[in-house]
Amino acid sequence: MANYVTGLFNFFDDGESNTSSKIVLVTGGAGFIGSNFIRFLLKKYPDYKIINFDKLTYAGNLNNLVTIEENPHYVFVRGDVANVKDVKNVFEEFNPHFVVHFAAESHVDRSILNPDIFLQTNILGTQNLLNHAREHQIEKFVQISTDEVYGSIGKGESCHEESPLCPNNPYAASKASADFLIRVAHQTYGQRVNIVRSCNNYGTYQFPEKLIPVMIYNSLINEELPVYGDGRNIREWIHVEDNCRAIDLVLHNGRSGEIYNVGTGEEWENVKLAEFLLKQFPESKSHIQFVLDRQGHDFRYSVKTDKIKKELGWKPQIDFKEGIEQTILWYKSHLDWIEQINSGEYMQYFKETYESRLTESN
Ligand code: NAD
Ligand code: TYD
Repeated sequence: MANYVTGLFNFFDDGESNTSSKIVLVTGGAGFIGSNFIRFLLKKYPDYKIINFDKLTYAGNLNNLVTIEENPHYVFVRGDVANVKDVKNVFEEFNPHFVVHFAAESHVDRSILNPDIFLQTNILGTQNLLNHAREHQIEKFVQISTDEVYGSIGKGESCHEESPLCPNNPYAASKASADFLIRVAHQTYGQRVNIVRSCNNYGTYQFPEKLIPVMIYNSLINEELPVYGDGRNIREWIHVEDNCRAIDLVLHNGRSGEIYNVGTGEEWENVKLAEFLLKQFPESKSHIQFVLDRQGHDFRYSVKTDKIKKELGWKPQIDFKEGIEQTILWYKSHLDWIEQINSGEYMQYFKETYESRLTESN
């Protein structure tokens, strides 16, 4: 894959030199959480320099970053975490202090249809990054993991960081495998690492294949809201900005080798959440439609968050209903964003906007 680079011209050439400034390699920064995290970092740490390293799969969208693409402290590099040459090049070129690793195949339904790419990106890609992080002796590697690695649990239960890993679908298994590789990097090679395991995120720029954006978009266009099975499965929800705050605290203050769960206790049965979302669109002609269940559908996830609260002083700040209201307003005013994705126009956007500024880095 060609390693397209944009923004490089200004990146090392802004005349600033500040010892507290860090170079952060963010993988998967063109996706949902990664793009929110890059905006968060640039705002909170104006001295930091951010490399967004992303393959631009169907889920990667540079439209997610239009508000910061001119920032001289931001650079985009197109590359595959599972490709040795791509990763070697980006480490050699930018010599990052930190890696925050979001890049992944992230959708459970797709993993059931085609597990192979999940193993390649989520497992081999993570090991590839770890190899180069070790070689370059970086200061911290943060693995963005998920509550799904603990597997399905019953009502009243909650997983802590040392609970056994018990994944039930190819996506969750690939993420659990990656978590073990992170553990090995620390135990065997002494690499400075953390793992963050969060519950389901929602918020701006989430790809319309996950539950909340599917329900919002379908309500807007008067389509049915597809609820899997009997709709009684339960998920715990966090606003993406609260998760970004947690990841930032773990990156800077997390004890090396430690895992931190991130959750809110905001649990919803899927059907109740679909009903609640539909109510936010009184004009909508949509209805809830129960559809064939997901194979191996996990009933419930829930994480204990005492550790991050006690050690790092984190707590969620965004009330769920307010967060949803804000998210709906964002989708309403960004219908073109979804429509471009649906029509594949955003790839065209990428070409048109960047082709003239593209530099082959290898
Ligand atoms: P996303 O699917 O929106 O984005 C993934 C990004 O990774 C995309 O930009 C894609 O182009 C990029 N990517 C995929 N394969 C790549 C590869 N081989 N090389 C380089 N880039 C590649 O995902 P998301 O929802 O933002 O999730 C980000 C991370 O957070 C994932 O690791 C996921 O497992 C984890 N996570 C997500 C949630 C959630 O609710 N979305 C919850 C917990 C954990
Ligand atoms: P999803 O957003 O895919 O996240 P995950 O499976 O990683 O938790 O799904 C959240 C829940 O919503 C899950 O129980 C499956 C269910 N679901 C539906 O009922 N309908 C849908 O259209 C989607 C995408 C998910």
